[in-house]
Amino acid sequence: MSVFLYPGRSLAEDIEFNRDIRPILSDHCFTCHGPDAANRKTRLRFDIESGAKVDLGKNRYAILPGDPQNSEIIRRITSQNPAVRMPPAYAGRARLNDRDIEKVRQWIAQGAHWQPFWSFIPPKGPTPPAVEATGVGCAIPSTLSS
Ligand code: HEC
Repeated sequence: MSVFLYPGRSLAEDIEFNRDIRPILSDHCFTCHGPDAANRKTRLRFDIESGAKVDLGKNRYAILPGDPQNSEIIRRITSQNPAVRMPPAYAGRARLNDRDIEKVRQWIAQGAHWQPFWSFIPPKGPTPPAVEATGVGCAIPSTLSS
């Protein structure tokens, strides 16, 4: 039996951003790290890829593709210290459940591949026939041209 292995990819579970990760971020993080600029506390935002992978300074990144160990997001969501943990205890938020934490960890280990919001992904299906380029101008019906 031959199995094609991708480095860093777990055979156990293949994580898909839109299906597995986006719902966690939007449910638990968007209030403070999302599209609403008024609520955003730092440059960190999880609704766009560039904001989620932004340089936090001092060589720190919330998401370091392939390296969950050094991803700030993992340090924060797994922290037992309520002053450090995200989402924050002071906001009355509970710790993420272990399953969600594990998904985020796996996703980062697998390379943290981002996907655009589902509505922007063109539906998969037969490609529509290409529209043939016509010559310059319009064809004039022969009844009018004589
Ligand atoms: C109630 C608001 C709130 C929610 C919800 C929230 N955060 Fe935060 N987050 C903050 C604030 C405020 C800071 C800056 C203060 C600090 O570092 O603790 C922060 C900082 C962070 C940092 C560190 C940024 C840096 O520059 O070091 C990370 C990583 C982070 N949040 C991840 C998350 C994740 C992941 C979630 C969802 C699971 C989340 N946060 C949910 C308010 C929130």
